Amino acid sequence: MSKETYQLSQDFLWGGAIAAHQAEGSWQKGGKGISIADVLTAGGHNLPRRITDGIIDNLNYPNHHGIDFYDTYKEDLALMAEMGFKAFRTSIAWTRIFPNGDDLEANEEGLAFYDNLFDEMNRLGIEPVITLQHFEMPYHLVEAYGGWSNRKVIDFFVKYAEVVFNRYHNKVKYWMTHNEISNQTAISDDPLYQFLIWTNSGIRFNENTTLRDKQKAMVQAGHYELVASARVVKIGHEINPDFVIGGMVNVAPFYPATPSPTDMLAWQKARQARDWFVDVHVHGEYPSDMEAFFKRSGFRSDITDQDREDLKNGSVDYMAISYYNSTTVSAIEEKDSEIDDFSNFKVVKNEYIKTNDWDWGIDPQGLRFTLNEMNEMYPELKIMIVENGIGAYDTVESDNTIHDPYRIDYLREHIREVEKAVILDGISVIGFLSWGPIDIVSAGTGEMKKRYGYIYVDLDDMGQGSGKRLKKDSFYWYKSVISTNGKMLD
Ligand code: BG6
Repeated sequence: MSKETYQLSQDFLWGGAIAAHQAEGSWQKGGKGISIADVLTAGGHNLPRRITDGIIDNLNYPNHHGIDFYDTYKEDLALMAEMGFKAFRTSIAWTRIFPNGDDLEANEEGLAFYDNLFDEMNRLGIEPVITLQHFEMPYHLVEAYGGWSNRKVIDFFVKYAEVVFNRYHNKVKYWMTHNEISNQTAISDDPLYQFLIWTNSGIRFNENTTLRDKQKAMVQAGHYELVASARVVKIGHEINPDFVIGGMVNVAPFYPATPSPTDMLAWQKARQARDWFVDVHVHGEYPSDMEAFFKRSGFRSDITDQDREDLKNGSVDYMAISYYNSTTVSAIEEKDSEIDDFSNFKVVKNEYIKTNDWDWGIDPQGLRFTLNEMNEMYPELKIMIVENGIGAYDTVESDNTIHDPYRIDYLREHIREVEKAVILDGISVIGFLSWGPIDIVSAGTGEMKKRYGYIYVDLDDMGQGSGKRLKKDSFYWYKSVISTNGKMLD
């Protein structure tokens, strides 16, 4: 495809995305309650973040300070506007609206904060794209109800969504329900799994919990989240028929390690074991492979006729996706590739794929592959890319410039594949919001030094520094990408 043919529609949503807990800080300001992100300590590369019982003195909790976006959003949004952003994704911190999750009344100060934030975005001509739950449910819901393992949490979430939908019905059009709802299927005894089920569902296991019990808990919690999502989609459309409400998943496409029939079956089962979340979001019902599995396993023991009806009535308007890398799988030889234990395959290294400093693969073509795969499975579905980018170490030069060709290369290659998917493959991609346009606290490690931004934030892993914002080389590059509607990538 020649450069001249790179042409996206004029209303393509260029921009970036963050999450409240990674940016806002001010964890106790404005009546905010404690969230599950507030009890995560700092970790590092290969050092899992600890989930503490409440807040423990003298530990480093990076989300408490974030990048102070709560107080700096005007100046930060002005920089995004300077880059020409058409859209900006952030989340509402549930705990700013319902500090405990089960409160009878919403917290007016929290609601007012988002009024101001969305007003500012609209004033600048930046479309708000809002996530309802991005790894930050109220900690009280974990302590008092067991997080999403409890059906009652559906009602709390629906109430929260209803309040914010009503409040912002003329300020926000694009919404998504749960961030990366399917992350939690990456089940194993690895500590990473405990982290994922914590961020997604607020569920904590003890050392005696068997893998089977973990899986069961995940399936049941996933079901409640899907029902909550569907109910919210329906209510949202009743409040404002113009709302565009999506589900959100991370898609790391699976590749088979070899073309052997056993690897091919393992690959297919790996996809089925994860893709049911999207199936339910889009089709309003579970696929037959998962229904068969739930029947023989007894997992998802709690599903009602009303749930099934709610799912049917609440299919999404679009899917939001995050894309960072791909996963290559092979069969575990000594057993069949049944979904039964969610470890029906093993992840293997793909020799064709380079990695970043945190061992995340770099696979631009995988993004086009993913978009095609989704388009085949869900024809006509609108897709918004709401996360993509590279976490990297940046160096500030003595003249305060930051040269980040690695970030430009990464994004250029990925955007090129998006353009091919739209222009050559005819896929309905409605926007590209890169992850962390301004440096924020890493969700996975709690570090500041794992940076994604076009805008550098002068803070270290301990939250120390001036907090000053500096433009990296990629700032100017992305600005010209947007101003040429994706034509000028080089
Ligand atoms: C996504 C999350 O999984 O990955 C974001 O939705 C997260 O919250 C992003 O920040 C990048 O991960 P990390 O661990 O590098 O911050």
